Amino acid sequence: IETALADGPLRGRRIVVTSGPTHEPIDPVRYIANRSSGAQGTALARALAGLGAEVVFVTGPATVPPPAGVEVIRVETAQQMLAAVQAALPADAAVFAAAVADWRVANAADRKVKKDGSGRAPALDLAENPDILANVAGMGQGRPRLVVGFAAETHDVEAHARAKRARKGCDWIVANDVSPGTGIMGGTENEVTLITEDGAETWPRLTKDEVAQRLAQRIAEALA
Ligand code: CTP
Ligand code: CA
Repeated sequence: IETALADGPLRGRRIVVTSGPTHEPIDPVRYIANRSSGAQGTALARALAGLGAEVVFVTGPATVPPPAGVEVIRVETAQQMLAAVQAALPADAAVFAAAVADWRVANAADRKVKKDGSGRAPALDLAENPDILANVAGMGQGRPRLVVGFAAETHDVEAHARAKRARKGCDWIVANDVSPGTGIMGGTENEVTLITEDGAETWPRLTKDEVAQRLAQRIAEALA
């Protein structure tokens, strides 16, 4: 357990971190979601707080518990996550580690959908969710000085991550290969490539805690 350093390098800095999956309801008992334990976002929030930052941790329904020493805001859907992030600003930095569902169910039912006996399945109409990272990265007035996104890819990791950084207008992208063979999703380790304005650097395979500490250090240097 880390304790915030009274004189850590991030003392006096406010940092918003999103984490975990979002759940998009189909009806009151069912939802669609992304696979995400919340492990990397949680480790990052803990590491930032350990360097003295005031962390607002906006989390979907994650598997791992939130860290101590941060302000925890629990949300369920992408729309709620966007509203919570906007309410948490202004901040010095914002880091988007959440696995946000790209679509929500536009025709969600307010009562449990029942089988009608016909053998036919109901159709779900999907609507695209707001892009929280792109929204914050594109803010004029009030944009956090450093906006960091994650990119979980299964192929062409660096190319997709570079394109994502440009498209979303964020400062950094932390990219990783989450294809099944890597064991990264749901595991304790991560192997990331950090894309910045200076190019791409690939880090060795580390524990998610070590990745978090390294990234927190870099964020501290960038905000110094
Ligand atoms: N993100 C977000 N809001 C969304 C979707 C994604 O804030 N509605 C953020 C994620 O938290 C992550 C980054 O954007 O930091 C990249 O997410 P990713 O799913 O890789 O990007 P997408 O633009 O959704 O592209 P893809 O089609 O590859 O899923
Ligand atoms: Ca996505």
